[in-house]
This record gives sequence, structure tokens and C-alpha cells, in this order.
Amino acid sequence: MNSGSKLLIVLLGAFVFAQGCRHEVDPPPGPRGTPLTVPIPSNFPAMPIPPNNPFTVEGVALGRFLFYDERLSGNNTQACASCHAPQLAFTDNGTRFSTGIDGLEGSRNAMALVNLAWDTRYFWDGRRATLEEQILDPVMNPIEMHETWPNAVAKLQADPAYPPLFEGAFGTTTIDSVLVARAIAQFIRTMISGNSNFDKVQRGEPYLPTIDEQLGIALTQQEGGNPALGLGGQWGADCFHCHPHGGGRMTDGLLHNNGLDSEFTDLGAGGVTGLPQDIGRFKTPTLRNVALTAPYMHDGRFQTLEEVIDHYNSGGHPSSTVDPFMKYTQGGLQLTPEKKQQLLAFLHMLTDMDFVNNPAFQDPGTP
Ligand code: HEC
Ligand code: HEC
Repeated sequence: MNSGSKLLIVLLGAFVFAQGCRHEVDPPPGPRGTPLTVPIPSNFPAMPIPPNNPFTVEGVALGRFLFYDERLSGNNTQACASCHAPQLAFTDNGTRFSTGIDGLEGSRNAMALVNLAWDTRYFWDGRRATLEEQILDPVMNPIEMHETWPNAVAKLQADPAYPPLFEGAFGTTTIDSVLVARAIAQFIRTMISGNSNFDKVQRGEPYLPTIDEQLGIALTQQEGGNPALGLGGQWGADCFHCHPHGGGRMTDGLLHNNGLDSEFTDLGAGGVTGLPQDIGRFKTPTLRNVALTAPYMHDGRFQTLEEVIDHYNSGGHPSSTVDPFMKYTQGGLQLTPEKKQQLLAFLHMLTDMDFVNNPAFQDPGTP
């Protein structure tokens, strides 16, 4: 046999093997049900949707039941919604750290679930790349829901209401963790916040912003620092590099060190990658609905938005990984009290009551 045909056989073998593997990871049950088009606000880009998990009416409805189902936890007391409540833009009850089913406290603040369909990194340290992967974690997390997936799935399988719902959404009555995650991911992708007063201004809809709001919008988009230095400074608040207004998300979704510390107890992305340059880097959260999601930062260290503004105004703490966009760790932004007030007015403008009160997001009861 010549080397060409040997190569062909090896390649063919690898192809057949890969198909076999894919078959196990990605089971034959696929999307079924009624295709659903989720409306996207006109100031947002198109939503990326994974080809193997398109929206269906049945999938989103099933995901909503599961999001509120306490049987996903070890002692049947905690649902996803226990730490991610719609009234608080899907965060928890204002505590620094969430408490799991065994009364144990985690070390991170519950994240808001807002406009996550557009992100490519999940968790504060960005350790998961898709919602479908991310959702598998909290169930197994010993200080969150502390349940095994086989147990959780067995509880759902034993409830006569669930198998037909899985059949409707995915074409099988056999429940597994992959399908549970797909259904919840569909529901989370529908959690779109795009009707704050800021959005109305962006879209040119009838809402007259106050003077403070107008100046606050401008401030976040102006470079910080002294114009006299000739480095393009505008005495602005310099928020837009990491929390850009364009695309509607109010986050770049990337990992940055925003100068909270000079020494790190939580290594952030560095704890995941093991790389020194990632130490202290965390996912930029959205600014949407921040007025509802106190306390702030990965460890909930700031109780109020005033404290957050003071942090940025101080310029933050220098370190070897502090972000290049935190340019004023020496000297600070030097915002006047009036400018701080304008910044606050801007942050409050991002509250979207249509989002938190949306009937489609509330507890649907038992299936
Ligand atoms: C005990 C409280 C608690 C429970 C229960 C819980 N979460 Fe979370 N959630 C958190 C915390 C804390 C974080 C941040 C964790 C981290 O970064 O390590 C988080 C992060 C997330 C994120 C990442 C958001 C982002 O912007 O990257 C998603 C999505 C999420 N949770 C969905 C869920 C789902 C779905 C469930 C149910 C299967 C669930 N959570 C159950 C507390 C909880
Ligand atoms: C260098 C990028 C960067 C810049 C510039 C920046 N931020 Fe942030 N912001 C982040 C990151 C990263 C976090 C999360 C950090 C953490 O928890 O460790 C964050 C967190 C926040 C939070 C907390 C949100 C929450 O859910 O806990 C608020 C509010 C905020 N930023 C507002 C602002 C404002 C206002 C400005 C401008 C004055 C600004 N940011 C400038 C990257 C940045």
C-alpha cells in the first residue's frame, strides 16, 4: 500500500471515530416543537443562536419550569430562581455571597442574568464558553444546589408531567442533563432587557432625558484625564472602553482587572488559566439594571453605586495586571460632585421595569 492510501485509511478511520464520538456527546434527540422568533430590540445586533438549540415555544416553556424547579437541588429547596430572581434583574436578595442548600456561603456575588445570549464567557472568571455548559455547574456545585445530575434527572423523570414536555421540546421522553441545560439555556436567552429610558433615547423614542442624564451619557463616553497633558484627556469618566453603549449590552463581555486590589485573594481568570497575566481579571458585567443588583463586583464589596463611582474616581489600585484602560491609578479621574451625580443619573437610567415585570419570566408554578 502506498503512503497516500494509508493516509486515506487513517483519515477515514478518524472520521468514522469522530462521528461515533459526536453521536454520544450530541444525542439524536434534537429540537422539536414550534419554532419561536424572539423579538430583538432594534438597537441590538442579531442574536447568535446555537444551531443545535434553536428557540421553540415548547423549549422555552420547559426551561422556565426547570429554572423555577427546586428539585434540581439536593434537598429540593433551591431553584436557579432562588439566587436569580426576576424582581432583582435575576440576582439574589442583596447579600454579598449567595447561600447554598447546606447553608454554606460561596465567595462570589450572584450575577445578573441579562442579555446573556450575546456573551461568549460565563461566570466571573469566564470559565465557561456557552450557556449550555454553564448551566451544568450550579446543580453540582457543593455550595450551591449540591445535587448529582443522575439524581436530579431521576426526580424529573419520575414526575409524570415532565417526560411529555421533553417529548414536545426535544422528541424524547428520556430526560438527561444535556436536554435540561438546553431548555434552561433557551429560557435564559429570552431574558432580554432593552426597554430602559436609555434605550428609548438610543432609538429616538419619546422620552425626554433630564439634563443630568444627558450629561451622564456623554461623560461615560469621554476619555478621563487632564486635556492639558495632550493625551486626549477630556476630564470624562472613561467607562465606555469596557462598558460600551453600542450593541445594547453595556459590557464588552471580556475579562479585565478594573483595579479593585493590588493583591488578590480571588485570582479570577488566573485561577482558571493558571497564567500570571490573568490574575485579578474578571468578566465585565452589564450595567443594565445595576440600580437593582446591589451589592457590586465579584465579591459584592460595594453596597451602593456611589461607592462604585468613588472606586473609579479614585483610579483604583495599581498592580501588574491592572487594565490599560484603568489609566488613572495615579491621581484618579478627578470628577466633580456634579459629574458623579450625572454618572449616577445615567446608571439609574438603565433600569428596565418592563424586563423585571415581564410576565413571561415569572414563576410558572409546577408543570
Ligand atoms: C446558591 C445561589 C445560586 C444558585 C442556586 C444558582 N446560581 Fe447561578 N450564579 C450564582 C453565583 C454566585 C454566580 C457567579 C459564580 C462564579 O462566578 O463563580 C452565578 C453565575 C451564573 C451565571 C453566569 C452569568 C454570567 O454573566 O456569566 C449563569 C448563566 C447562572 N448563574 C445561571 C444559573 C442557573 C441556570 C441556575 C440553576 C441551574 C443557577 N444559576 C443557580 C449563584 C447561584
Ligand atoms: C478596564 C475596564 C473597565 C472600565 C474602564 C470600567 N469598568 Fe466597570 N467593571 C469592569 C469589570 C471587569 C468589572 C467587574 C470587576 C470585578 O468584579 O472584579 C466592573 C464592574 C462594574 C460595576 C459593578 C456591576 C455589578 O454587577 O457588580 C459597575 C456598576 C461598573 N463597573 C461601572 C463602571 C463605570 C460607571 C465606569 C466608568 C466610571 C466603569 N465601570 C469603568 C470593567 C471596567
